[in-house]
Amino acid sequence: MIKFNEVTKVYENITALRKVSFSIEKGEFTFVTGPSGAGKSTLLKLIYLAEKPDEGSISIAGWETLSLKEKAIPFVRRNIGIVFQDFKLLPNKNVYDNIAIALRIRGVKESEIKSRVHEALKLVNLRHKTESFPSALSGGEQQRVTIARAIVGEPTVLIADEPTGNLDVDNTAGIMRIFREINAKGTTIIFATHNMELVKNTGLRVLKLDNGNLVRDERA
Ligand SMILES: Nc1ncnc2c1ncn2[C@@H]1O[C@H](COP(=O)(O)OP(=O)(O)OP(=O)(O)O)[C@@H](O)[C@H]1O
Ligand SMILES: [Mg+2]
Repeated sequence: MIKFNEVTKVYENITALRKVSFSIEKGEFTFVTGPSGAGKSTLLKLIYLAEKPDEGSISIAGWETLSLKEKAIPFVRRNIGIVFQDFKLLPNKNVYDNIAIALRIRGVKESEIKSRVHEALKLVNLRHKTESFPSALSGGEQQRVTIARAIVGEPTVLIADEPTGNLDVDNTAGIMRIFREINAKGTTIIFATHNMELVKNTGLRVLKLDNGNLVRDERA
């Protein structure tokens, strides 16, 4: 599903990733951990094609990204849902429209959008907030909206960059349950966090980065 082969990424004089190799199978749940500056966000950006490697090769959902034409990037991205730490919801649109937007851009018809948005909201337990605006939601609720937005296009891969970074313990546990449920339905998940409490005892795979090096690949 995702394969990194000796990937190096350099920003000016900083090597953010150094000869990183791993492969993730369809349906896996993988954490990416490591201290601040270790290269977690960089690794995710390479997966969703926001950055290009300086050396090595990456393949995503069967696409070799090195030989990818600019025009093909949106097609690869359709396979990928993304959740960030800061929620990035549109403040002037309600919950429904924030989620529907991704499907409208693709030209999906409104009747199908409606059923898909409602299904996504059900999964994150927010059916009762369909008409609310982001400013009227708690942090945990806003993050659940962004998860609904990320999965409404039925991506094969869901990428999360510190999605619980701004949340308290209870909300964090709720978000983790939702990610496990999405994974149980077959979506591949790559979840970056520096919070080892989250990872502990999950039995899930952990890729540990340190100073741009992949230093561990094991089960929690
Ligand atoms: N656009 C950029 N320009 C220059 N340097 C960058 C850029 N993005 C990241 N870096 C550097 O690359 C290294 C890895 O950054 P990255 O954001 O991947 O770390 P991280 O593990 O996600 O850290 P955090 O836990 O703080 O989010 C850091 O030294 C960072 O300063
Ligand atoms: Mg980061």
